[in-house]
Amino acid sequence: MNDQTPVFRTSQLEENDGPGHNPTDNPTMGELIAARFSRRGFLKGSLAVSAIAATVSPMALMLADDARAETKSAFSFEEVEAGIDEKHHVAAGYDADVLLRWGDGIFGDSPEFDPRNQTPESQAKQFGYNNDYVGYIPIDGSSEHGLLVVNHEYTNEHLMFPGIVKVAEGKIEVAPADKKRVDIEMAAHGGTIVEIKKTGGKWQVVKDGKLNRRITANTEMQLSGPVAGHDRVKTNADSSGRKVFGTINNCAGGVTPWGTYVMAEENIHGYFTGELAADSKEAANYKRLGLPEGSYEWGKFHDRFDVSKDPNEANRFGWIVEVDVNDPVSVPKKRTSMGRFKHEGAESIVSKDGRVVFYLGDDERFDYVYKFVTTGKFNPDDRAANLDLLDEGTLYVAKFEADGTVNWLPIVHGTGPLTAENGFASQADVLIETRRAGDLLGATKMDRPEDIQPNGVNGKVYVMLTNNTKRKDDQIDAVNPRAKNAFGHIVEIAEADGDFAATKGKWEILLKCGDPSIADVGASFSTETTKNGWFGMPDNCSVDADGRLWVSTDGNSPKDTGRTDGLWAVDTEGAARATSKLFFRVPIGAEMCGPLMLPDMATMMVAVQHPADGGEDWEGFGRPSYYEDLSTRWPDFKDDMPVRPSVVAITKKGGGKIGV
Ligand code: FEO
Ligand code: CA
Ligand code: CA
Repeated sequence: MNDQTPVFRTSQLEENDGPGHNPTDNPTMGELIAARFSRRGFLKGSLAVSAIAATVSPMALMLADDARAETKSAFSFEEVEAGIDEKHHVAAGYDADVLLRWGDGIFGDSPEFDPRNQTPESQAKQFGYNNDYVGYIPIDGSSEHGLLVVNHEYTNEHLMFPGIVKVAEGKIEVAPADKKRVDIEMAAHGGTIVEIKKTGGKWQVVKDGKLNRRITANTEMQLSGPVAGHDRVKTNADSSGRKVFGTINNCAGGVTPWGTYVMAEENIHGYFTGELAADSKEAANYKRLGLPEGSYEWGKFHDRFDVSKDPNEANRFGWIVEVDVNDPVSVPKKRTSMGRFKHEGAESIVSKDGRVVFYLGDDERFDYVYKFVTTGKFNPDDRAANLDLLDEGTLYVAKFEADGTVNWLPIVHGTGPLTAENGFASQADVLIETRRAGDLLGATKMDRPEDIQPNGVNGKVYVMLTNNTKRKDDQIDAVNPRAKNAFGHIVEIAEADGDFAATKGKWEILLKCGDPSIADVGASFSTETTKNGWFGMPDNCSVDADGRLWVSTDGNSPKDTGRTDGLWAVDTEGAARATSKLFFRVPIGAEMCGPLMLPDMATMMVAVQHPADGGEDWEGFGRPSYYEDLSTRWPDFKDDMPVRPSVVAITKKGGGKIGV
């Protein structure tokens, strides 16, 4: 982007259209498809698309084959009707209360939100923009009192700042940024840690909570692990290669078994501008990540985001960041052992022998699924002993074979192709260019890996693959079986012997998304799934204490699916497997993030991201949404309507477990 070309940033779908790209010939396994035909799911799915009436779902056929045990759905609630409007909708008998909105104060001295007089200082004391990951760290084991941790992924300037949008010939233009606006954007990124408490059945923010904290794109952080101190992460401001300021584009994340907050740095490419020197050693590295993409204007005012002035700064982003929430001035650590790519999330589980396993997606078309296994073991009796577990471990990348096996390939310097001959002088080099290491190892190119959730109840792992319309007919493979995959799918992994640390497992497609009534879509929900129950573009997910899967979406729209994004309950077991039901849906233009069921299953926290964005494709809107239009478009605009990014607490009227 140059100064004259302001960017109209819309949903994550466009964000990930993919300036970074996977140039390799890693297997799309065309020649292996025939072998895969013997596998049940692929055969039935193919037949369903090509030959069998759309009313017969592949899953129904699978059930007939397997005579799965007759069990009913694990979910009991009255399904919400899918649709489109400017409000949120929750299942009957439930309350959906806005707990936190962009701009809400989280400290006793936070200024009141005043959208027409925003400052970087006020934003740094308020809840940030575009809430994505939501985590909960109980205080004294309580499900009614704890720390809420929330990522603020990115900013939508046209929805944040009054007076910066100009409409010309039906198109909107966003005015170029000044330094103050950029500094507000930087303060609106990062994360929030805030104490919350449930009183009388309703959640409230504890503004004087002593652990409350805002993390921004300026917060001091430390690089730790194999890359710390390496020449490739030394910059003009930091000759040590260890001290970084800020975290950006924190999409999904996780809470570790020892109660720290991990934030995944995803689309980092958009924050960097300028041109690398012609002879830069980072050229291939940056190209593989789409760097610099320059959709933000930060580099105009902060040299570190201009790669021509500070060519190594971008190597200090794209990591997993760990925050010790027990100390509000702790220095967050970028855990370089977990690799550098467009990290979506970092959900974890303790394996049989006590090592901790993190599942990691790289959200780009044709990129990879990873997991990280700590070397050390989790010590449940000594929190401090776990605080640097993430500095040592093995990162693996997934190769999904056509016979239903998944092999986890170690990304270790000196093994296989990860050697000096291929430009890797050390493990630090391998980690800085994790994608290239995956390329050389022959990892499987996936349809945009988003959130990945291990399920401690049934021992499985759920991989959200959101979509990939660029996959061609000759690029389909067993685990990504649809060309022009507009609606995504969900893969289920069962690790060998139920051991999450295993280097091998089995995989199966849980469901293929999209409208099952259209044969060409090739969706595979169960026949019990209603017209409200199917969805496209799975993104975030959560597993509750009963092991039930909840899936939230990014990219459903009037045009593509005739519905807004939402939260769907998805059965994984027995006869009800692959049945999906709509529990909650968001206003037009919003993406559904979170979700998180609290341990007592009496509260579901969800995050409503960029409501009102891109509303032009809803009949009646007539033009894109931007700040000034919100109150005129919705005459009943009021504080409790989620037109600001918000975290919403869903509870059952009168209390009790959700969906039970
Ligand atoms: Fe930020 Fe991959 O969604
Ligand atoms: Ca996401
Ligand atoms: Ca999750």
